Amino acid sequence: MLLLLFLYTFLDQASSTFLIDPHTFSFPSFDPNSCTNGSLICMGSVTAGNGYLSLTPEPNNNSTSPLEKVGRVLFHHPVVAWPASFSTTFTIRISPFPNSNVSGDGMAFIFAQDNASSPPSSTGSYLGILGPSTQGGVVQQLAVELDTYKNEWDPDANHIGIDTISIINPVAAESLNATGIDLKSGRNIKVRIDYHGWKKLLEISMAYSGDMLVSVFNHFIEIEDTVPSSVFVGFTAATGRVPESHHVLDWTFSTIPLPDLNNQGSKYDKMKTILLIVVPLIMGLLIVLICFLPSFRRLVKRKKEMVKQKVDIEIRSRTAANVPKMFTHKMLAKATHNFSKENLLGTGGFGSVYKGTLKDDPPTIVAVKKISATSKQGEKEYFAEICTIGRLRHKNIVQLQGWCHEGEHHLLVYKYMPNGSLDRYIGKQFLDWDTRFKILTGLASALLYLHEDSISSSGSTTTTNIESKSAPQLPSLDSSKADDVVLQCDF
Ligand SMILES: *[C@@H]1O[C@H](CO)[C@@H](O)[C@H](O)[C@H]1NC(C)=O
Ligand SMILES: *[C@@H]1O[C@H](CO)[C@@H](O)[C@H](O)[C@H]1NC(C)=O
Ligand SMILES: *[C@@H]1O[C@H](CO)[C@@H](O)[C@H](O)[C@H]1NC(C)=O
Ligand SMILES: *[C@@H]1O[C@H](CO)[C@@H](O)[C@H](O)[C@H]1NC(C)=O
Ligand SMILES: *[C@@H]1O[C@H](CO)[C@@H](O)[C@H](O)[C@H]1NC(C)=O
Ligand SMILES: *[C@@H]1O[C@H](CO)[C@@H](O)[C@H](O)[C@H]1NC(C)=O
Repeated sequence: MLLLLFLYTFLDQASSTFLIDPHTFSFPSFDPNSCTNGSLICMGSVTAGNGYLSLTPEPNNNSTSPLEKVGRVLFHHPVVAWPASFSTTFTIRISPFPNSNVSGDGMAFIFAQDNASSPPSSTGSYLGILGPSTQGGVVQQLAVELDTYKNEWDPDANHIGIDTISIINPVAAESLNATGIDLKSGRNIKVRIDYHGWKKLLEISMAYSGDMLVSVFNHFIEIEDTVPSSVFVGFTAATGRVPESHHVLDWTFSTIPLPDLNNQGSKYDKMKTILLIVVPLIMGLLIVLICFLPSFRRLVKRKKEMVKQKVDIEIRSRTAANVPKMFTHKMLAKATHNFSKENLLGTGGFGSVYKGTLKDDPPTIVAVKKISATSKQGEKEYFAEICTIGRLRHKNIVQLQGWCHEGEHHLLVYKYMPNGSLDRYIGKQFLDWDTRFKILTGLASALLYLHEDSISSSGSTTTTNIESKSAPQLPSLDSSKADDVVLQCDF
């Protein structure tokens, strides 16, 4: 954050020191020293006369041909083009050569990226602005052309235009016919070019010298996308196969840097705007995250705990109530070592019973009855047992712990009786009278429960009642015959 603040201040300072002081210069007139006293850079065919700068050769200069010439004159010091508003006013005079009935090419006011002379071969229609080698964005410049020759792409032989990277495709071009001004009239013409940095509007006003300036052309242009912020300003002119004289009689220029960069849209501003918006946003997000993350985590944790607790309670109450629950086949296969022979407790009419150890806490030993997959009767048996035994609660009737039906598999899980089946004892080994009595009373109690108590006591709900009514005939006694292991006596 501090770093970013520093960066911001740095940018602020950098951009304000960058704007040096506002540049204003004025040439109320020119004299033969103008090109040599250091205030102007005169290049090409530019000469300084008495009261004017001549951009292309004069008709009376016998020593040089006036054709195919290029001249460029620039103020010796670069000026700020943006972020700024600027204004320049100058007086020009464009005259055909004596005895010439055809006009030459014209001249231009230019914002050049450097103080170099006009590119080679920028004669004629190129007006000294661009050459064949600098067309198409090679240079960053802006020119306001005052064109006196009609090329095939021009509206006429008396127009102004705005050129950046192409002469053939100017940014804008407008005939001056409607203004009543004839560029090549040989009369002094005052031109003013204003650029409004806020509005990004380039405004061109003109009048014959002495008349009121009138706005002849407006155009919106993003100057920062067009030229460097520091430019050389001046004039260019060219002749081709027809001579023409191009004079500049006076010139003033001023640029006013714009103080508030935020609305300027310069690259610095864009960066600053981005920083100003993005940085606080990120900071805000971070702060929110830092502040609320722990409580958010707590919330999630509490929710998790609540869910866990709920599941816990469910499991515990199920276990406490000994309510039959669903097992997965995988669980039971694991508990019985994949229904191994070693775990086989016995085989009955509807399937086999295996001893299994459930990995509960503490591990519980169960008897898993695997009902023969193919037996349709087995399936019936399976459901009957869930419906009936699952509901029976008697100390002498083995308790159903759960069930599993996955595809072909029908499994029932019972409480494991360590003493095994009753048939192991009856008639096979000596039982004392006490034990015999216990067995008999236990059986009697279970039978009484099955035949009476289970109906009357569980008669509170109708569904249980209906199912229970058919129940006693079906499983318990049957299964006691069929699967000896299942109906065991707890003695
Ligand atoms: C150079 O000449 C121009 C035009 O005549 C004049 O305005 C300017 O002050 C001169 N500069 C110097 C340093 O003499
Ligand atoms: C004639 O043109 C040459 C070359 O452009 C220049 O050096 C010379 O000063 C000019 N003479 C006059 C009188 O303009
Ligand atoms: C240029 O040539 C013309 C005649 O061709 C002559 O009258 C004039 O004085 C010459 N000008 C200069 C500056 O030599
Ligand atoms: C322009 O002048 C040339 C001679 O310099 C002449 O041949 C031509 O006909 C003239 N054109 C017009 C349109 O007057
Ligand atoms: C052109 O500009 C460069 C730096 O911008 C400077 O070094 C050089 O002297 C300038 N040339 C002229 C003729 O003023
Ligand atoms: C402007 O006037 C000239 C001369 O009258 C004419 O040739 C030209 O076509 C006019 N321009 C437009 C754009 O109408």
